Order: sequence, then structure tokens, then C-alpha cells
Amino acid sequence: MALTTESQARRLMARLDALAAFTDDPPRLTRLCLSQSHRRAAEQFIAWAKESGIAARIDPVGNVRARYEGRRPGAPALMIGSHIDTVRDAGRYDGALGALAALSLAEGLAAQGRRLDVALEIVAFGDEEGVRFPYTLTGSRGLAGVNEPEALAQKDAGGVTMRDALKAFGGDPDHLGAARADGVAAFVELHIEQGPVLEAEGRPLGIVSAINGATRLSAVVTGSAGHAGASPMDLRRDALAAAAEMVLAIEARARAEDELVATVGRLDVEPGAVNVIPGRARFTIDIRAPLDEPRRRAVADIAAAMQAIARRRGVRLDELTPTHEAAGYVCHPAIVAGLAAAVVAVGADPRLLPSGAGHDTMVMGQRWPAGMLFVRCKGGVSHNPAESISEDDCAIALAALTRFAEGFRAA
Ligand code: HGY
Ligand code: MN
Ligand code: MN
Repeated sequence: MALTTESQARRLMARLDALAAFTDDPPRLTRLCLSQSHRRAAEQFIAWAKESGIAARIDPVGNVRARYEGRRPGAPALMIGSHIDTVRDAGRYDGALGALAALSLAEGLAAQGRRLDVALEIVAFGDEEGVRFPYTLTGSRGLAGVNEPEALAQKDAGGVTMRDALKAFGGDPDHLGAARADGVAAFVELHIEQGPVLEAEGRPLGIVSAINGATRLSAVVTGSAGHAGASPMDLRRDALAAAAEMVLAIEARARAEDELVATVGRLDVEPGAVNVIPGRARFTIDIRAPLDEPRRRAVADIAAAMQAIARRRGVRLDELTPTHEAAGYVCHPAIVAGLAAAVVAVGADPRLLPSGAGHDTMVMGQRWPAGMLFVRCKGGVSHNPAESISEDDCAIALAALTRFAEGFRAA
């Protein structure tokens, strides 16, 4: 039975709702990498693929992989996909839309008995968000063959190493190299914009020109815990008050430069009692910019500001450690042009725009020509349960992705 783009979009939206049920934190959607809910979501993805006769499997680094052959067996592959791990209390479209759209594209071809010049390699990456472990993008890094061995030794908040988590998940930490993909001609990712531009301009689709680079750091400020009632203000070494001043200094530095963004997403206070002056504050810092040099300058300026605040307040900045660094990626011109032609072919404007959010595409682009297709999301809201897209936009995005795949020729 041939699938129309509309019926494919309807099924894809229903699957996104179904996948959102795989969470470790109901009723919120929290599906951290290598968690039980991630495993169940991966199994569901494999089951959906199997319904269309497409064999899928979990690779050694925790991605779901499937292949839909081209006209000639062993033809070079166009790899398409996105991630199925989420942040905490997430929206249901970030990542999952692109992973399921890739499967839907292959299912549409299979239903029509069609084969393309290229094979389709479908991937649902397992660790794009980097919320459970400090180090992130391990799924695409493993697939691109650029994983760093020390990643396996890092621990989550519960002290579980990535190595043990991967083994429990059904991956194979001793053979990460087997996840490396070959025979790939290009990579394309469909993803929600996670920003307000397309909606503000009344456009359903956009083509990503470049992806911001990112630096993440973890900070630990140590003062001295004390009695909230008996300690005069001028004798305190309050770790939280110092951290708060640092957070405002981080914000001020980002506000001072166009297109630079910085975020403190998590802050934990010790000992955490109403009547105890905080002795320690731990927090994360996330700094992004379109170009790498301004980002690296901002990191240095922020570190200097934090040290100055610590000195003046008599506390120690015991730790300021980079935990993740991803260089910015300028999307490959041939892929950008192919996506623009596909967007025009489905009747939309070929609007180019940068991505402030990071994506697996920035890793895949280290090895193959890579690019991204954005779809409008309501209010530009993401990393939030209110994240949403319309079924019509899902349909036009699927149509554009299919047109791109049909027109793609391996160089
Ligand atoms: O943080 C990011 O930009 C992405 O959502 N992981
Ligand atoms: Mn994402
Ligand atoms: Mn995300």
C-alpha cells in the first residue's frame, strides 16, 4: 500500500507520541542515554523498522542502526538520522523527529517497492544531549570513528561509568571500533529549529548554514559552612553568594557580545540546609558562539572573572574543568544546495539560518559532507514539554527530506 506524505506524517506524529511514553521520570519525558527508557525506545524503533521489513540493530556504542539498500547492493549510503536520548523534562520532537523521519522515508520507499541510487543508512543516535555523562555526542563520535577512549571511564551522578552503562544497555564497550561506519557518502539530519526564526517569518522549513561550537565546564566553589544566625556578614565565606556573583558575571559577559550565549543550567549547594551558610557550590557552564575564536576568548574572560570574584570573597575556585568541547561546523555547501533545491521543490522558501543548538551533524561533518534541515517549532520552544510541531509541517519536512534523498548522488 503506497504511503502518501500526509499518511506518513500522521503515522510519524503518532509514533512521536508513542515514543514519548518511554521515560524514566513519568509524567515528565526524561530519556537519558543508556537508560532503561532509552533501551525500550531503541527496541520500539527496531520493532517499527521490522514491521516494514527493515532490519535494525543496536550498535556497540548504543545507537540504533538500519539500512535500506539502494538499486545496487553495497551502493554508497546516504546516512540520515538524529538522536533519541532527551534532556530532563524534555519535549518529544527534539531528536526523535529526525530519527523517526529517517525510518519513515525508508518505509515510504519500501511500500512503493522503490530503490534509490544510494542506500539509506538510518541512525537513531544514543547520546546527543550529554545530560547523563559530562562527555557528549558519543553516539555520533562512535559512528564517525572519533570517540575518545577516556569517555568510557567518566561517571554519571550515581557513580556508574559509561563503560558499565553501555554494557548493561547491550552495547559493546570493548569493541567501539565496530560502530564505525564506512561506505557513507553524506549525512543529513532533520531537526526542529529550537528557536523562533522560522515561525516569526511564517516559514515551515529552513536549511542550516552552520552549527555553533560549544564549550561546557564544571565549576566548584568552596567557602566555609557556618551558622546562619551566629556568623556576622563580613566574616562569611559564602560559597553560594560567590557562585551567584559568578553566574551574573557569566551572563554579563555573554550579553556584551552579539551571538555569544552562556548558560548556567545546574547549580548544587552543600550542605543544603536552611540555617547553614553554604560551604560549597557546584555548577555547570555552557558557552556557545558561531565562531570558535570568540567562544574561546569568552571562556578565558569568564575564567578570569570567576577567579577575581573568588579572591575578593575569600573563597576558592577549586575546579573549573572543561567537560565538553565541540568545534563549530559550517554545513557542506553541496548538502546545503541539495536541501535548498528539495525545499524549493516542495514549495517552501530556501531560508538559510545558523543553529544555536548543537547536533550530531557537527560530529558527522568531521568525516563526511553533512547538513541539516530545520522544521518550525511552536514559539521556538524546546528542551521543554511545551515543544511542538504541526502535522502539516511534519508532512512538508518529510516531503523535502524524501526529495533530497531521491536527488542525492554519491560523489
Ligand atoms: O545542547 C544542545 O545544543 C543540544 O540540544 N544537545
Ligand atoms: Mn537535538
Ligand atoms: Mn536537545
